[in-house]
Amino acid sequence: MQRLKDKIRDIPDFPKPGIIFKDITPLAKDPAALRLAVHYLVQPFLGRDITAVAGMEARGFIFGSLVAWELNLPFIPLRKPGKLPYDAQSISYDLEYGSASLEIHTDALNANDRVLLIDDLLATGGTAKASCELIEQLGATVEALGFVIELDFINGRKQLEDYEIHALLHY
Ligand code: PRP
Repeated sequence: MQRLKDKIRDIPDFPKPGIIFKDITPLAKDPAALRLAVHYLVQPFLGRDITAVAGMEARGFIFGSLVAWELNLPFIPLRKPGKLPYDAQSISYDLEYGSASLEIHTDALNANDRVLLIDDLLATGGTAKASCELIEQLGATVEALGFVIELDFINGRKQLEDYEIHALLHY
């Protein structure tokens, strides 16, 4: 895991003063490290009854689509507002720095789906919680959540107590 941690770069005061941003672009830039991260990410979910992988824009797309590829499952994008061309369901939520919305196509999932939600980072858990609600609004079930990075000191898990959560790197 230290090999992966070496590929996460701290950027102080981004995007706002006082925030230390965890930059995953060095990890994405290193094919061997990226492959290793995805290998570890999928381990808890192998052989599980999962029908789709969902990822949040934008960095959740990087890891979510690789996990979907690895598990041979569909990838469902949760997008920022106004980007989806078909009928979309929307949810608003609070972020570590500001507020935001996410959207999903109304035909992306249905009551038969058991979804693995993947993102790069768990901070306050606001994005993840809203994403779970969005998935559930379509009648689907959230099977589990997987993150590359968890900021333990923020304790975002607290508002995700009903869900199974796995994270590779802890800070
Ligand atoms: C970041 C990160 C997670 C979210 C985590 O996304 O990729 O999605 O914040 O924060 P939270 O647990 O406090 O909700 P951001 O909204 O910065 O979007 P980006 O991936 O497009 O940079």
